[in-house]
Amino acid sequence: ARLLCLNGPNLNLLGRREPDKYGHDTLDTIAGRLVSMAEAAGHQLRFVQSNAEHELIDRVQRAPEDGVAFAIINPAGYTHTSIALRDALLAVRLPFIEVHLSNVHAREPFRAHSYFSDIAAGTISGLGAIGYELALTAAMQRLG
Ligand code: DQA
Repeated sequence: ARLLCLNGPNLNLLGRREPDKYGHDTLDTIAGRLVSMAEAAGHQLRFVQSNAEHELIDRVQRAPEDGVAFAIINPAGYTHTSIALRDALLAVRLPFIEVHLSNVHAREPFRAHSYFSDIAAGTISGLGAIGYELALTAAMQRLG
């Protein structure tokens, strides 16, 4: 099946962005691991990062025509603000797992609220880059 891994703003800076919170892996490193994991299991994964809310929304809107069956999403800062990205996911009924590198519940109070958690298949937060791989494992199990 086709999977989409969608990453929000500032995640392009991963590796040099607050490494104490987000780790030393770059997004490219994470992407490489995820793509080969998916391929090894006979799936296809597209990895996307954007700082622009509308680009993330456009990707989600296009998911049905792109044949995307499942998504792994780290909405980054938009986690706590984007009703519009939430609405897009509901509109196309795209099932997804929400991933955060850091533990959003152990940081500033405003990070504890997510516009995505209640509509996600599940959430992973605070496990670092491996969180993406755990999400992919769960996603592939659901896809069969
Ligand atoms: C994040 C957590 C968010 O609160 C933050 O805005 C990010 C990254 C994470 O992966 O830990 O940009 O989603």
